Amino acid sequence: MEKDIKQLKKEALEAINEIADLKHLDLIYKKYLGKKGEIAQVFSFLKTASVEKKKTIGKEINLIKKELESLFNTKKKEYEKKLMDIVISKEAIDVTRAGRVPKQGRLHPITQVQRECENIFQSMGFSVVQGPEVDSEWYNFDALNIPKDHQARDMQDTFWLKQKMQEDSKKNFLPRTHTSPVQVRYMEKNNPPIRIVVPGRVFRNEATDASHETQFNQIEGLMVGDDITAANFKSIIQQFLKRFFKQDIEIRLRPGYFPFTEPSFEIDAKQRKGDWLELMGAGMVHPNVFKSAGYNPKNYQGFAFGVGLERLAMIKYKVDDIRLFYQNDIRFLKQF
Ligand code: FA5
Repeated sequence: MEKDIKQLKKEALEAINEIADLKHLDLIYKKYLGKKGEIAQVFSFLKTASVEKKKTIGKEINLIKKELESLFNTKKKEYEKKLMDIVISKEAIDVTRAGRVPKQGRLHPITQVQRECENIFQSMGFSVVQGPEVDSEWYNFDALNIPKDHQARDMQDTFWLKQKMQEDSKKNFLPRTHTSPVQVRYMEKNNPPIRIVVPGRVFRNEATDASHETQFNQIEGLMVGDDITAANFKSIIQQFLKRFFKQDIEIRLRPGYFPFTEPSFEIDAKQRKGDWLELMGAGMVHPNVFKSAGYNPKNYQGFAFGVGLERLAMIKYKVDDIRLFYQNDIRFLKQF
């Protein structure tokens, strides 16, 4: 029996040495140390053995059991560590590697242009003011000295709201056709000196083409004081254009006509193909506009202008067709 036990130990040690992986380890463990394993069999044999044998063999088999158990434990830990190392090496995150750049949205080019204009004018002492997108016939036309029979009021040029037209033009409403109504709205509530710009959406019932949209954006400017002259307009607008375009672009100033300014001018810029594109209308505020706002026109003078934001963007970014800004083509918008 003692010889068998020694043989058993030798075999077990060899088997442990040859273990290749955890699964294999479990099998060998069961074979020797399992409930019905070889060591358990020795113990059950001992139940019927003599006291003497129980003593000597019992002691020895207990020692062997402990030794094998410790060997199995060491082996098991070794294999578990190996397995963990493999998992770690596969799943590890290299925090030093460059990350993927997340896709970010961006501001629409016209919003960018609007903010740029606001910043430039603010740095020249202008405040940014807002007005309603739907306004009355009074503010959009009458208060601006636009005659009752002016063609701009026609259905072809203005989107009138569905309504029964009233005699009182303050009761007839329309999506504003320009940002100029905010001139009178602001002057009614504020006294000179005035330096404001008014960015915003405007709406016109007209056919679209490469330089016309039915919905577009303007930035209105108004500067009023005791002695504001056309020379002030010229220098402010020159400063603005220089800072906005940051490059030499060809500009021309020509006489224009607006019922709310006298004299009136228009400023055009040259497009890359050589055509002139109208950028803005401007002029010295008409006395009747001051009257609409409740000012005595003898006391004040000033200039006003209205610039198309899309037109500014077209010249700055060399875009030949205004409609590209509103087609939501991501390939186009990504460029800005
Ligand atoms: C006006 O709207 C005047 N309120 C401008 C003004 C303000 C004059 C203050 C004097 C004093 P006009 O219709 O020309 O004017 O438009 C002004 C600018 O808006 C144009 O120069 C152009 O840049 C832009 N614009 C006009 N119509 C369109 C359109 N359909 N699509 C895109 N931009 C346009």
